Amino acid sequence: MATTHTYDAVIIGAGGAGMRAAIETSDRVRTAVISKLYPTRSHTGAAQGGVCAALANVEEDYPEWHAFDTVKGGDYLVDQPAAQLMTEEAVDAIYELEHWGLPFNRTPDGKLDQRRFGGHTRNHGEAAVRRACYAADRTGHMILQTLYQQCVKRNVRFFNEFYCLDLLMEEGRVAGVVAYELATGDLHVFRAKTVMFATGGYGRMFKVSSNAHALTGDGPAVAFRRGIPLEDMEFFQFHPTGLNKLGILLSEGARGEGAILLNKDGERFMERYAPTIKDLAPRDMVSRAIFQEMKEGRGAGPSGDYVFLDFRHLDPKVLEEKLPDITEFSRVYLRVEPTKELVPIQPTAHYAMGGIPTDVDGRVVVGPQETPVPGLYAAGECACVSVHGANRLGTNSLLDIVVFGRRGGADMAAYAAGTEAPDLPGAPVGSTLDMLNGLLTRERAENAADIRKDLQAQMYEKAFVVRTEDGLKEMKRDLANLRDRYSRVGVQDKGSVFNTDLMEAVELGFLLDCADALVTAALARDESRGGHYREDHPLRDDANWLKHSLAYREEDGSVRLEFKPVKMGPYLPMERKY
Ligand code: FUM
Repeated sequence: MATTHTYDAVIIGAGGAGMRAAIETSDRVRTAVISKLYPTRSHTGAAQGGVCAALANVEEDYPEWHAFDTVKGGDYLVDQPAAQLMTEEAVDAIYELEHWGLPFNRTPDGKLDQRRFGGHTRNHGEAAVRRACYAADRTGHMILQTLYQQCVKRNVRFFNEFYCLDLLMEEGRVAGVVAYELATGDLHVFRAKTVMFATGGYGRMFKVSSNAHALTGDGPAVAFRRGIPLEDMEFFQFHPTGLNKLGILLSEGARGEGAILLNKDGERFMERYAPTIKDLAPRDMVSRAIFQEMKEGRGAGPSGDYVFLDFRHLDPKVLEEKLPDITEFSRVYLRVEPTKELVPIQPTAHYAMGGIPTDVDGRVVVGPQETPVPGLYAAGECACVSVHGANRLGTNSLLDIVVFGRRGGADMAAYAAGTEAPDLPGAPVGSTLDMLNGLLTRERAENAADIRKDLQAQMYEKAFVVRTEDGLKEMKRDLANLRDRYSRVGVQDKGSVFNTDLMEAVELGFLLDCADALVTAALARDESRGGHYREDHPLRDDANWLKHSLAYREEDGSVRLEFKPVKMGPYLPMERKY
């Protein structure tokens, strides 16, 4: 028997987007936040280098310059009205965080300090601009703590270590969700007028990733299984500077403070690829440049599969005061002393530009006509607004979560206040029970960890920074095989108390769904744009591909694609030179 709870607003995920939404809803309607982690362990806490807004505290800057950079950085797949709105609302969003007590670094005269970040420029590309507000290299951590304090102040009801496993719909509108309580193995039905997914990304489908183990695409996969399309899944961001082999992030803030990239010959190779802003070019360009260096034999190490980040010329005080965490990560994980030695780095799977399609008020919209699904919302990395297009600029994700978390929360509260509680569908936990019982009762012919390891290795080999038609076709076949193996997965732990074995098997199913959507869309898009680079189609093709993809899951498990136009604005697609 499942316990039933009734709320006006149920938010899935207690990272920055979810908590910012909860701050908005909880003053007005009964709100619950369901999270598989304790809120302060959410992955927002791993975001390092900054959150941007054109405050112009240290040099001239305008929201319009920020909007231009966001659109150009996103390789013109950005919905321009959404980017304009985000960059205009950015300024208030930052001051709101400051007024809530976020300990930003400051200038000597007490203003919020700002630093350079990739792709953020002065006057439409003239030079790098200082736009990122930061709290050392712990900006996401500080945002998470600040938002959690505001939630506690408002008595937001958290259901921690609860996994959302199904979305309930009735007569075309949202009716709630089903969640699994890790401590007891009990199922809970949350009957709700509105539901928001704010579950983060799905970078754990790749072998080398900056993402926490929890980032398994739960929200997108649950929605996908209930007929909601996923937008622009082919666009995944590979951050250039992960610790070699481990993928742990070394913030772009490092290059913002003056660190540079070197190949094995000690050459500052970004001068060749982006002569104006060099190491501060957008991430897609820098990651591709690193792969090019490796391909042409200038990668370091016995296999030539990494390059270096050089901090040695920086004042050690800069590392101590502005980059303390990443300095420590280099020492602890690689035993490298960044003040004296070169740090081996490689691109790491970092951020999903694609996700659940929404409008600028966080409402989930389906199809080329963008029909809203009544009561359903998404925000943050699991959503696709789309403000990041084909490649997100660094620091725009922390901005996205506070701007669209707030907007989504406000719309949820208004909608919930004006509508009756929905009826629940019959047998609300039926499909969830079938899924869990299958995993619990099946003989363990396959185990989830082996399949996950193979998925990550294959995605790293065939769907990472450089893709080809042959590789993606092979990956489709690999996915069919992995799915077949997944149908024989059983779990060793048959118990009901803290059964992480069972939840990891469920999460693997979510990752497989997201990978299927990503690979199908990547295979169809025979052009290169932003984070999606096809070696066999190296140029951007605006005539055929200036459009968003929408991936649908069919009854037989296959993926079908539709497309919808990009919302244009003042910026016409140009060649991306930096
Ligand atoms: O490099 C970083 O500090 C990451 C920031 C981001 O992804 O926005």
